[in-house]
Amino acid sequence: MDRRTFLHDLSRYALACAATPAPWRATRRPRLAGDPFVLGVASGDPTPDACVLWTRLAPSPFEPLGGMDGLPVVLGWEVAHDEGFSRVVDRGRVTCAPELGYSAHVDVRGLEPDRWYFYRFTLPEGGSPVGRLRTTPAPGARRPLDFAFVSCQHWEQGLFTAFDHLAAEEVSLVAHLGDYIYETAAYQDRVRAHHLFEVVTVEDYRSRYAQYKSDPALRAAHAACPWIVTWDDHEVDNNYAGLVGENEFESEEQMRLRRAAGYQAWWEHQPVRVPRARSWADLSITRSLDWGALARFWVLDTRQYRSDQACGDRTQPVPCGTWSDPSRGLLGEDQERWLTTGMRAAPSTWQVLAQQVMMAPFDRAPGEPVSVSMDQWSGYPVARDRLLAALAERPGRTVVITGDIHANFVNDLRSGFDRPDRPVVATEFVGTSISSGGDGGDAWDFVARVAPDNPHLHWQNNRRGYVRCHVTEDAWVSDYRTVPFVSRPGAPVETASSWRSELGRPGVERIG
Ligand SMILES: [Fe+2]
Repeated sequence: MDRRTFLHDLSRYALACAATPAPWRATRRPRLAGDPFVLGVASGDPTPDACVLWTRLAPSPFEPLGGMDGLPVVLGWEVAHDEGFSRVVDRGRVTCAPELGYSAHVDVRGLEPDRWYFYRFTLPEGGSPVGRLRTTPAPGARRPLDFAFVSCQHWEQGLFTAFDHLAAEEVSLVAHLGDYIYETAAYQDRVRAHHLFEVVTVEDYRSRYAQYKSDPALRAAHAACPWIVTWDDHEVDNNYAGLVGENEFESEEQMRLRRAAGYQAWWEHQPVRVPRARSWADLSITRSLDWGALARFWVLDTRQYRSDQACGDRTQPVPCGTWSDPSRGLLGEDQERWLTTGMRAAPSTWQVLAQQVMMAPFDRAPGEPVSVSMDQWSGYPVARDRLLAALAERPGRTVVITGDIHANFVNDLRSGFDRPDRPVVATEFVGTSISSGGDGGDAWDFVARVAPDNPHLHWQNNRRGYVRCHVTEDAWVSDYRTVPFVSRPGAPVETASSWRSELGRPGVERIG
């Protein structure tokens, strides 16, 4: 295969770059315009004996190719027991190629389960910042887990102060549930400005990721522990569904190209393993992560495989249009089968669905008719109730963690929402945004008015922040950590409320 044919499928090229580099490449010293590690480092997708290390060389992040000269560069990496790297566990080299935005992805193997390590990348000119990673417990081990989940970090709408606080938490894992970037052009009312108009090409998306990674709080949170990352809509295009974009003038062919650009740039900037796809437009990110036998995270993609929204993307009185068509879905057949058959067989104590859009319905209009979001699970009622019926097979053992909506919600999940008398089978913790939506406030004004229409809703809050979770064999505790403002620096963090679900006892109780 010649180089051109090979590069035609860059996702396969990524695999080659992650392998041992060719010796000729090792001899070249890159000409660098400045510190190539300004985008920081990250680790992710840990297992009992492995973890992915990430960086991207970009001495001038907003120049084409991040200011690199267009030739491949070989980078060293090291993993050690100590922050000073006196007890190095493993080291190696990885190729950073211009075709992949000079990103580096190293899948370090042979680590010991359930322990912390330090890592860094090296060039003759100097090293990267040091990051910390933690492997997961050995298969079968039932060790407690402290983790946090986050979503929605609009650059223009607020500072990432919540990440400064998250970086200081004693958590072993961060789950990012999507809207890591926003593709949109500059807004009028902003705290800080996006660089470009709406991003479309892979170079545009790279530049947008670089801008977000320029935030020191985000870099600190990445360096503090491994992340497990999925995407929502804004990594490509607002409210897209499969190959249907936000704007009607964008054809499916254009959306395919745009998805390829957005997915490739996402991969280039996240600590995830090499792609499993024939092309970037079909990049599959659905995967699971085990925390020993305590918890299995099912990391879902509710964007790429979904049917188009019924009757527009917004809130609608239902029924309407194709809303209740049983052939419509949010996960696609393959992902849904993988999830439901997998959950049935999983030995884990807790099943954690790490996903994007709210699963419980939220009726926004008092009285009749019911009015719900077409973009959330409430827009796909048959598929939602089919999934809830699967969760009902093991009541009180599933927790759904959700982003997207820029607000905190604590919801009971019933075995279906088609009838009000269905039993509670699981809990949904919806986490607010890091910054999207700006300063926010307490509960939305109208939530009290629609409380009788939403008996499954326990709590709603509109501050920015993240959710910290402490998970054991007996119970799951979620602390809603919020900041009072994001429009100026220095916001403190507080726990706005705490919730507990006991294993095997469906339902949730406020404990703080
Ligand atoms: Fe968002």
